[in-house]
Amino acid sequence: MKYKIKSICCIGAGYVGGPTMAVIADKCPNVVVEVVDVNKERIDDWNNENFDKLPVYEPGLSEIIKRCRNRNLFFSTLIEDKIRNADMVFISVNTPTKTKGVGAGKASDLKWVEACARQVAKFAKGHTIVVEKSTLPVRTAEVIKSILESSEKNSLTESNDSSFDVLSNPEFLSEGTAINDLVNPDRILIGGEKEDAIEALCDVYRNWVSEEKILKTNVWSSELAKLTANAFLAQRISSINSISALCEETGADVREVSRAIGSDSRIGSKFLQSGPGFGGSCFKKDILNLVYLSEFFGLPEVATFWEGVVKLNNWHQKRISKLVVKKLFGTVANKKITILGFAFKANTNDTRESSAIPICKDLIEEGAILKIHDPKVDPNQISRDLGKEQKKEKDLAKEGDWIFEKNIKSACLDSDALIILTEWSDYSQIDWIEIENVMRKPSWIFDSRSVIDPKDFVKSNLNVWRVGDGSIL
Ligand code: NAD
Ligand code: UGA
Repeated sequence: MKYKIKSICCIGAGYVGGPTMAVIADKCPNVVVEVVDVNKERIDDWNNENFDKLPVYEPGLSEIIKRCRNRNLFFSTLIEDKIRNADMVFISVNTPTKTKGVGAGKASDLKWVEACARQVAKFAKGHTIVVEKSTLPVRTAEVIKSILESSEKNSLTESNDSSFDVLSNPEFLSEGTAINDLVNPDRILIGGEKEDAIEALCDVYRNWVSEEKILKTNVWSSELAKLTANAFLAQRISSINSISALCEETGADVREVSRAIGSDSRIGSKFLQSGPGFGGSCFKKDILNLVYLSEFFGLPEVATFWEGVVKLNNWHQKRISKLVVKKLFGTVANKKITILGFAFKANTNDTRESSAIPICKDLIEEGAILKIHDPKVDPNQISRDLGKEQKKEKDLAKEGDWIFEKNIKSACLDSDALIILTEWSDYSQIDWIEIENVMRKPSWIFDSRSVIDPKDFVKSNLNVWRVGDGSIL
């Protein structure tokens, strides 16, 4: 083999860089893995002695960090140094939607990726394989390559013996199941031109992934496949959420419809769970990126088709806050409403694009007093997401205020309604008699995640709404 990888540098210590490099270090004890970031606070958290304080919560992650940290896995802000010593550099930085300039609101902002390419160009020594791990628009590898190639001829770079290969290796992990997804991936996708570079990356994955799961494509197919995978997954959720609204009007039950269609092996059963709308940092941004690319390449029909997935999701989130107001006699002003779950899905502390954000904002706007519970989300994060500090003196909370509650029962005290927005397992074990006793009457339970069992409510006086359940008309 031409290139044998002994040292890896990953730029970006976020939800992808941290867990992905932890698994690589765990599975490849002979490779030194250096994770670097400009965010010192984040790096300090990765190095925290208290494993509950790691910046990313993922089941199984802290055990791996315990095993590998300071053995062959290191977290630091020494970006230049670590690039210099690496045989392979992963770019795993954020690629959010642009907020201004050309393509604002749709195109991905590549300024962080470009900054990385320039740093690699400047500091790398010898031959370096640069791997795109971030999700990127089609043909970004070309941009990275041209920056790197111009440095090969540039006297300002540190080393005059540098040369590069660029590979695309998108990540398909889901938050909440990231470690299992990394350890047992459905596939590893590698897009590239040069066989030697592809072989070097395959060799890293071969430590734990079987050969038939490693797919090799050209760079552009690999980049486009990542955007397409997310677009297809999000499209399924918008499809089933659209049907949930129809179920509520017609007496059908969306869970029964999902089971019935999911049994068709051509459709399959996964990603058919109706909820409060999809959240997470990627679905919306990646679809909007696809919309932008389609428009850019003169394909407006394709752009409109995919934009519909995001529009339906926005409408569905609004639908939920509107129906809560409607059921509570048309006003929530000064009424206490308990919010169970703020993360965008269970088993993560991530709130990026969580449906809880627009739903809570709508209710605050309507004057409700929100009592928010989440087992993993930091209340400071909720303040940032809602653009509003929580009321510190709980008893003085008034119209439009919110407070954070650590305990589910006290979160329900005197509430008119309770809304389940994240499917944390704790919420499926709630004693509803106990909750009924502390809520104000008439009390409403809104379950947007199908975590409650309607049978538990037969003997109670609680009013129940479940997403897509037309049988409770
Ligand atoms: P993140 O925001 O959690 O982490 C990115 C990190 O990169 C930040 O800590 C930031 O400080 C750092 N960074 C930015 N520019 C830098 C620079 N020039 N030098 C050093 N550090 C820099 O983002 P994430 O969720 O890990 O996502 C990263 C990429 O992976 C995105 O393109 C995303 O679309 C993709 N992705 C994310 C997921 C997911 O589940 N979060 C899954 C698959 C793919
Ligand atoms: C998603 C993809 O599943 C990953 O393959 C991809 O790597 C990642 O995006 C990415 O590129 O960032 P993630 O956003 O972490 O992963 O989580 P998902 O499990 O896909 O859930 C996304 C949203 O859809 C959540 O809000 C979830 O609650 C919702 N969802 C999911 C539903 O409402 N119903 C479902 O049936 C499934």
